[in-house]
Amino acid sequence: LSTIEFDVSKVQEGQQVVITWQGKPVFVRYRTAKEINEAANPVGSLKDPEADSARVKPGHSKYLVVIGSCTHLGCIPTFGSGEYGGWFCPCHGSVYDTSGRIRKGPAPKNLVVPDYAFLTDTRIKIG
Ligand code: FES
Repeated sequence: LSTIEFDVSKVQEGQQVVITWQGKPVFVRYRTAKEINEAANPVGSLKDPEADSARVKPGHSKYLVVIGSCTHLGCIPTFGSGEYGGWFCPCHGSVYDTSGRIRKGPAPKNLVVPDYAFLTDTRIKIG
């Protein structure tokens, strides 16, 4: 399927659910207030500078949706690990923050945000 729908109310605060879209894992994360605050840090020093606000949908910043594929060589990063509380890639040690942005390690880019939209307050369409 080129598009899928997902009910984000299935994700608990502080957790992620992994769904599959076009053969790829997609992480749907319900961020805590602390994780959202941490993601709002200044972007100037980032390897791939991107504001958190540009990676989420207006009014839905607690949800982060990213493709679960490390931008180095495509391993699946581990949720909640690494010193920035986002993800840690076990293959070569890339560290992502709670916005899915690369902070340390060999990955060149942030985790990719796929095209998606909120259809209702709880339902998203990816693709
Ligand atoms: Fe993730 Fe190499 S594939 S760090």
